[in-house]
Amino acid sequence: MKLPSRVKIVDVGPRDGLQNEKGHVPAEVKIGLVHRLQDAGLKDIEVTSFVSPKWVPQMADAAEVMAGIQRKPGVRYSVLTPNMKGFEAALSSRPDEVVVFGAASEAFSQKNINCSIAESIERFAPVVEAARAKGIHVRGAISTAVGCPYEGEIAPDRVELVAKLMKQIGVHHVGVCDTIGVGTPRKVQAAMEAALKHYDIDDISGHFHDTYGQALGNTLASLEMGVWQYDASVAGLGGCPYAKGATGNVATEDVVFMLQGLGIETGIDLDKLVDAGKYISDFLQRKPNSRAGTAILNKRSG
Ligand code: HMG
Ligand code: MG
Repeated sequence: MKLPSRVKIVDVGPRDGLQNEKGHVPAEVKIGLVHRLQDAGLKDIEVTSFVSPKWVPQMADAAEVMAGIQRKPGVRYSVLTPNMKGFEAALSSRPDEVVVFGAASEAFSQKNINCSIAESIERFAPVVEAARAKGIHVRGAISTAVGCPYEGEIAPDRVELVAKLMKQIGVHHVGVCDTIGVGTPRKVQAAMEAALKHYDIDDISGHFHDTYGQALGNTLASLEMGVWQYDASVAGLGGCPYAKGATGNVATEDVVFMLQGLGIETGIDLDKLVDAGKYISDFLQRKPNSRAGTAILNKRSG
């Protein structure tokens, strides 16, 4: 199959990345990161989560971060909203998109959002309805779509079921998420195919953590199926507090470098993206977890 000519990347670094940091990251630094990402040409940024601060204290400043962003026209700012409480709290922040997050594994659903898959759909339904009534786009994340830290391998029919349930309640778009980065290309393709039974190719995306170094391969395998939307995280930030040992999402810099090499348009300025990755990595006092980012920085200093 011909590869897509254009790819849309959602940078989830400010959310998926910074939700997992042990040290305190001030709202001002999060806002600085969002500004650098939008300056680099990102048109979709997952900014924060309206979740319980007892569960994820790192995201307790969600409203402050959203209020501090100087919005750029044409950029879509998304936030996670697991229930009506989160959605109502998010509303005054005027998100362009909200994300409900479910899982293909019962055990992960319990650990992450404290309810079963069926209960999660019941909680999401009013969120989706309220968002749609306000014209807010709704994305659904299907976590543990290939593997679960508690249940092991996940069969594609489990992904299909969650995709079907999300479709039934009106979720516009689903992300097939390899939460712990254990997916390999054929397994990821099978999970994508399962979700594609209920969603159109234009309403599906890949979200690959790079724990086992498979995320670029999984991205290419998904591109070959025509999937043209991906989540990625600047400087490879990220993980999930309820998936121990899982490292960050694939680095946005690495995905952009690969796509440029394939002649696929992203609208992203790689040099400015590397600057954004360096900004947050300097704050965190570590090197960017991106091979392309590191190579470009070495070349600059070289
Ligand atoms: P719960 O305890 O079942 O909720 O948590 P509850 O409705 O029983 O309420 C209990 C308390 O939480 C109450 O407060 C509520 O007000 C409060 P109390 O009376 O005890 O003081 N509460 C809230 N506070 C703020 N915002 C809210 C909210 N809801 C209830 N929205 C809940 C359920 C979902 C809230 C909880 O389990 C939670 O916050 N979990 C966090 C999950 C999370 O953020 N995980 C990381 C993001 S997901 C991810 O990283 C995966 C992804 O990247 C894809 C992938 O890689 O797979 C997306
Ligand atoms: Mg994630």
